[in-house]
Amino acid sequence: MNTEQLFDQSLARVLACQRDGRAFFEAFYDAFVAASPEVAQKFRNTDMERQQSMLSKSFYHLLSFYASSNADYYLDKVAISHNCNHYNIRPQLYDLWMETLIATLRRFDADCDDATELAWRLVMAPGIVYMKFHYGRDSIVGF
Ligand code: HEM
Repeated sequence: MNTEQLFDQSLARVLACQRDGRAFFEAFYDAFVAASPEVAQKFRNTDMERQQSMLSKSFYHLLSFYASSNADYYLDKVAISHNCNHYNIRPQLYDLWMETLIATLRRFDADCDDATELAWRLVMAPGIVYMKFHYGRDSIVGF
């Protein structure tokens, strides 16, 4: 199986189940906010529904970046809104985001093996690099 097949099948499994009464993105959000006071602080003025919507949207934007190898206009806007002059999301917080995602994946997908975990990391990686790269920049680096 290739990376995309491993990822797609695993994603279908995690979206189809719940743990402790929480769906995948809800559990991911709980864990992300609990993982660092800095994250909780960033979201202090955001209502819960918007936070969860941010987390699931961000996930799908990264997915589409991987599939197309091109940032859509939306991801460009998001990269700027998260940079040092706006939400100020330090690059390390993306690593925490990623590790929290993988920990949540492991909780939800009983069939997740190392190859599946690697597939998730590979699919998310280009978009994370893109976001981190624009941390200190106020305009989009095009190619
Ligand atoms: C992994 C890549 C990420 C993507 C693609 C992403 C995407 C998004 C999107 C689509 C929004 C709503 C639109 C906007 O305000 O620009 C948003 C808002 C936000 N994101 Fe992210 N995000 C990511 C990572 C993070 C991380 C690591 C943090 C750290 C805490 C974070 C914090 C925020 C905050 C504070 C908001 C504003 C919420 C509000 O409206 O009050 N994001 N993000």
